Amino acid sequence: MSKDFKRYLITSALPYANGPVHIGHLAGVYIPSDIYTRYLRLRGRDVISVCGSDEHGVPITIKAKKEGITPQQVVDRYHAIIKESFEKLGISFDIYSRTSSPVHAETASAFFRKLYDEGKFVEQTTEQFYDEEAKSFLADRYIVGTCPKCGAEGAYGDQCEVCGSTLSPDELVNPRSTLSGATPVKRETKHWYLPLDQYEQMLREWILEGHKEWKSNVYGQCKSWLDGGLMPRAVSRDLDWGIPVPVEGAEGKVLYVWFDAPIGYISATKELTPDWEKYWKSEDTKLVHFIGKDNIVFHCIVFPSMLKAHGEYILPENVPSNEFLNLEGNKISTSKNWAVWLHEYLVDFPGKEDVLRYALCATAPETKDNDFTWKDYQARNNNELVAVLGNFVNRALVLTKKYYDGEVPACGELTDYDRDTIAELSSIKASLESNIENYRFREALKDAMNFARIGNKYLADSEPWKLIKTDAERVKTILNIALQITANIAIAIEPFMPFSAAKILNMLACEKFGWEQLGAMNLLAAGHHIGEPSLLFEKIEDDVIQKQLDRLEEIAKQNKAAEVKAEPQKAECSFDDFQKMDIRVSTILEAEKLPKTKKLLKLTIDTGIDKRTIVSGIAEHFSPEELVGKQVLVLVNLAPRDFKGITSQGMILMAEDATGALRLLQPNEKTNAGAMVG
Ligand code: 2FM
Ligand code: ZN
Repeated sequence: MSKDFKRYLITSALPYANGPVHIGHLAGVYIPSDIYTRYLRLRGRDVISVCGSDEHGVPITIKAKKEGITPQQVVDRYHAIIKESFEKLGISFDIYSRTSSPVHAETASAFFRKLYDEGKFVEQTTEQFYDEEAKSFLADRYIVGTCPKCGAEGAYGDQCEVCGSTLSPDELVNPRSTLSGATPVKRETKHWYLPLDQYEQMLREWILEGHKEWKSNVYGQCKSWLDGGLMPRAVSRDLDWGIPVPVEGAEGKVLYVWFDAPIGYISATKELTPDWEKYWKSEDTKLVHFIGKDNIVFHCIVFPSMLKAHGEYILPENVPSNEFLNLEGNKISTSKNWAVWLHEYLVDFPGKEDVLRYALCATAPETKDNDFTWKDYQARNNNELVAVLGNFVNRALVLTKKYYDGEVPACGELTDYDRDTIAELSSIKASLESNIENYRFREALKDAMNFARIGNKYLADSEPWKLIKTDAERVKTILNIALQITANIAIAIEPFMPFSAAKILNMLACEKFGWEQLGAMNLLAAGHHIGEPSLLFEKIEDDVIQKQLDRLEEIAKQNKAAEVKAEPQKAECSFDDFQKMDIRVSTILEAEKLPKTKKLLKLTIDTGIDKRTIVSGIAEHFSPEELVGKQVLVLVNLAPRDFKGITSQGMILMAEDATGALRLLQPNEKTNAGAMVG
């Protein structure tokens, strides 16, 4: 039985502030949570939506080290980018905070301290890897070595990025600290553990018995964690970036990022309103966590155990989580830059925020992994938004302008067809509500679009543009109904496409409606003057899409080149063998294409010893003009060879990478021709 809640608290997974947000995050978490929140607001419910940047954890310190800046500088940069891009996409958080805020430090410390004082933690000393030179314990990511599975160099203590194996630092061959290069040693360290095993029974009853309605992917993951048996989990780390563990004898230790981050939801609520406790501590609140599927265990097992241990907080009523979104058939990857980044999309597609919201909701991986393709994005825009929604709204408004100078005509007697159309609209309303309330946003979007489909069909069937000549009275009723449907669309699509909903209201010259008005046919009074019609959506041409595909192709090429391993070393050669080669710095004096060949250039070079001709197969990589005047390295005592009747006396040395690109090898400063290389 569903309970009636007095208020709603919506949380969205706090994105890590070590990179910008991409379409996978949006489709998985932020668009669903925004649709849900906007819907509840439209219904006039007491709802708040909180989010913020997750600013602690090892990846942020690694990024800072790589770039030679502080972790605070890293999070400041990405917090600003993420916050601004969410705002521009219309993600309507009531607050977007950050876990480096003072309120959060205080809230998370007090949370830890209460559990500590009440003996809810288990203290345990274990051996961890330590860098004696840098005098620092080492997180798994700070240890690199040779992968025991595939032999790749540079595998991390938790994972080999070449073969994808999950590793532990103990398994690495030749482990080294990334801080100093020293070989890590084991050293004892004390940490605090939350004994999850003690919460197992509570979790079983609450989730497995009490929340069978959760999405099957979420329920299934919880069941398998619980069936596997829970173990105590460390909630502190030896690290110098994070919230200090607020007890004596914990110098150099911080709260584990997954302990402090979910408390960030509480801190953000506190920052938003002095009334925060009623959202967190009353059974009348419906708490819903929107998260990605890799966050399920933390939100369904760990955080609820923390909340129970604390004792004053409610547990979530639901934890909707999607599967993963792929991009053009491949897994989205931040490190491989295989993503569509929100902040870049906003620059490339100004004014098309709703198109992205629409395309991502329509392809959201709600029940299984799904694929985002640019062609599908284009088709959804051109065939659905432009051809259905935009077309209907435009026709209704333009005809009203044309026939009645923008004044809403009165509705006369309804025909059976009118009545059927109106009844169909109210039946969609029920389905739309049920789909949103049950987190089926793709279906809900189809329902919302059905208002426009029905409107389109209504106009196409009624043909007011023909009737105007024979039955002008009837046309008034038809356009009145078409305008009422248009106003209904502004309500139905608002959770999904808020910018377009606002644009429709603006064109209708009316204020925002409430959700309860959805389905009504008296939203616009006869005699009301509408505003100026303009196009809601515009067609996206092939060249715009091709540009995005070209960008991805370029990235794929770079990734492939980075993946390809260097050729294995050739058989040993003696010093004498090497000495036999006479390599000289030479200057290219002339260059021309050899007629009737594709690849060959004829070069005249100054070797310092003489001027001679070399034929080189590089015409597809360099133009003659760009070579003239360049210094290169030349193997001058290579036996002469004939090409197309020309004798080539030597070979220009080149580097060829895995993509087949050629680079000249040149002295780093201008050198006299004839200088010997060796
Ligand atoms: O996976 C992530 O991006 C995490 N930063 C989510 C944290 S959610 C919450 F607990 F803060
Ligand atoms: Zn490996």
